[in-house]
Amino acid sequence: MPRQDTIFERYLAPMFKLLVDREAIDNLDKSIDWESVCDRLTDPNLVYPQYYQTQDFHGIEGGYLNKSAALTYDPITQYAIPPNETWVRQEAIDTITVKPRRILDLGCGTGSTTLLLKQTFPNAEVIGLDLSPYMLAVAETKAKQAGLDIKFYHGLAEESDRFESQSFDLVSASLLFHETPPEIAIAIAREAFRLLKAGGEVMILDGHQKILRQNPWLTEIFEEPYLKDYATGSVDATLGAAGFAKVRSEDIWWINQVTVGLKPIINHSPNINSQWEQQPNQNPFPAPA
Ligand SMILES: C[S@@+](CC[C@H](N)C(=O)[O-])C[C@H]1O[C@@H](n2cnc3c(N)ncnc32)[C@H](O)[C@@H]1O
Repeated sequence: MPRQDTIFERYLAPMFKLLVDREAIDNLDKSIDWESVCDRLTDPNLVYPQYYQTQDFHGIEGGYLNKSAALTYDPITQYAIPPNETWVRQEAIDTITVKPRRILDLGCGTGSTTLLLKQTFPNAEVIGLDLSPYMLAVAETKAKQAGLDIKFYHGLAEESDRFESQSFDLVSASLLFHETPPEIAIAIAREAFRLLKAGGEVMILDGHQKILRQNPWLTEIFEEPYLKDYATGSVDATLGAAGFAKVRSEDIWWINQVTVGLKPIINHSPNINSQWEQQPNQNPFPAPA
């Protein structure tokens, strides 16, 4: 049940209620057998971290762990990524420099970026990972409807044990970093580094940190518990500290940014090798300011 005392519920939710296509939401709801799909998608051994389970993201009690959050996510998000959600996501994907054969989309949510990744790289194996089985249920439905072969798994972006080290060419995360405490964003960057092959690329799409700092009201209007911390940080620095090289950020339209970085190709000098492999925190390439 949505809480009634938040800025989001008081001012934005009524506006969104007018804008969203209620019938489309009802149809999507009816098309999913929530109980069986969520049972199948749920990893019974997964323990939800406190930072995730105890926060009411977007003012919805229970955060992402309910079907209402999953059903309303796309209809609302389209208005939160101006000027056009698909342009912004595609522009972020277009900054990718590698030709990936295996892609992991962390915190994939309802799969909007995941589906675009598969459409952009049709020959790649594409996998989405998320902590909410409800979001995964919507993502899976969208992929099936679009005829796209994408696998979705339930799991932690910062500790995705089910995947082997150095097994992906591209690891992406869209709109995930602003939803996690800073130490978790750092852990996710390190996990992306572990998962990538040498020469592989990380791509992080999220809110524009400088614009958020310059316009603090943007960090107030949505019920986003970690958005202020995100705004004061630097994705460039986070990726640099995780060991990524050639880290660069680009503005995407008005309030978004994309940051990409490469996992250095191992230099066969044993000294440099062991430094990069064993101490990813000591970035051999300084992050851009
Ligand atoms: C704002 S949504 C973004 C969804 C999608 N990537 C997009 O671009 O629309 C954030 C998503 O991250 C997921 N999430 C948050 N913390 C996570 C974590 N530590 N590991 C995996 N998923 C996480 C949430 O369940 C939610 O689906």
